[in-house]
Amino acid sequence: MTATAARGHGHGKVILVGEHAVVHGHAAIAAGLSSGITVVASAGAGRLDVPAWSLSATADDGSAVGRALAAVLDRFGARGFDFAAEATIPSRAGVGSSAALAVALARAAAAATGQQDAALIAAAVFDAESVFHGTPSGIDAAAAMSGAVGRFTRADAWRPIPVLQTMTICVGLSGRPRDTSAQVAAVGRLRERLPAADGVLALMGRLADDAQAALACGDVDGLGRILDAAHGLLAALRVSSPELDALVHDARAAGAIGAKLTGAGGGGAVIALAPGHERDVLARWRAAGFDGFLAEIAATEPAAQREARP
Ligand code: MEV
Repeated sequence: MTATAARGHGHGKVILVGEHAVVHGHAAIAAGLSSGITVVASAGAGRLDVPAWSLSATADDGSAVGRALAAVLDRFGARGFDFAAEATIPSRAGVGSSAALAVALARAAAAATGQQDAALIAAAVFDAESVFHGTPSGIDAAAAMSGAVGRFTRADAWRPIPVLQTMTICVGLSGRPRDTSAQVAAVGRLRERLPAADGVLALMGRLADDAQAALACGDVDGLGRILDAAHGLLAALRVSSPELDALVHDARAAGAIGAKLTGAGGGGAVIALAPGHERDVLARWRAAGFDGFLAEIAATEPAAQREARP
């Protein structure tokens, strides 16, 4: 074991289409964000500080963050580290903060203990995410590790997918914290009382397939329609909220060609596609008392081009 400082990064994420459906075996498409959280490990006693989130925890304080930290440290068999984190995404806002933190902590612990083993890092991330979310599908952690755009199913895990055209998306924050495990449990209860909910989840999986095709051929209008349809399905699953609906409607009124809640819902965030009107959407959200930011979904380099490079 070495006591030198070591760092790890985890990306924030947005789910483009397929949240909740992915828990029940269907496909979802997510995009890692360039912003996220970077953690630096140094010799210490199992303390974590995230000043941007006004958060401090220790591995034995019994809090959710403390238990997640303990789970990561125990995977690496080492408690003798402190972690200082710099976050450029908001916490509990639906943009993957807990997965980004889990990935950054696991990567920093791996670097600090000299155990750069992908399977060990993935296991530590899963342990930490389980503390935060009960039984996560794994999509948040996969996007937090990748930082790119990918398709996730429980059967095949994460597969990067091609994106023909770089797109800017608007991310609007409801200001209400989301609780992923509560929302996942609520959808589970709805399935018991409303068998047709399974059809809604399956349709969302089909929309994820359509979104994958739209991204591959740069069909921005098509993707906008898919986002609108997905919001309707998520509302049918009762995971939207008055704030999320207001953000979606405000985005459309300001010129968005599609908008939906992203992540678990209840609180958290929405995404909107508004080519040429991104600043109008942010201004409209701010006028209504909501915060927001822009994120880029970068075009991927075609494999042939990549291989041709000297
Ligand atoms: C949360 O970002 C996405 C959900 O589908 C939960 C999960 O997949 O673990 C709601």
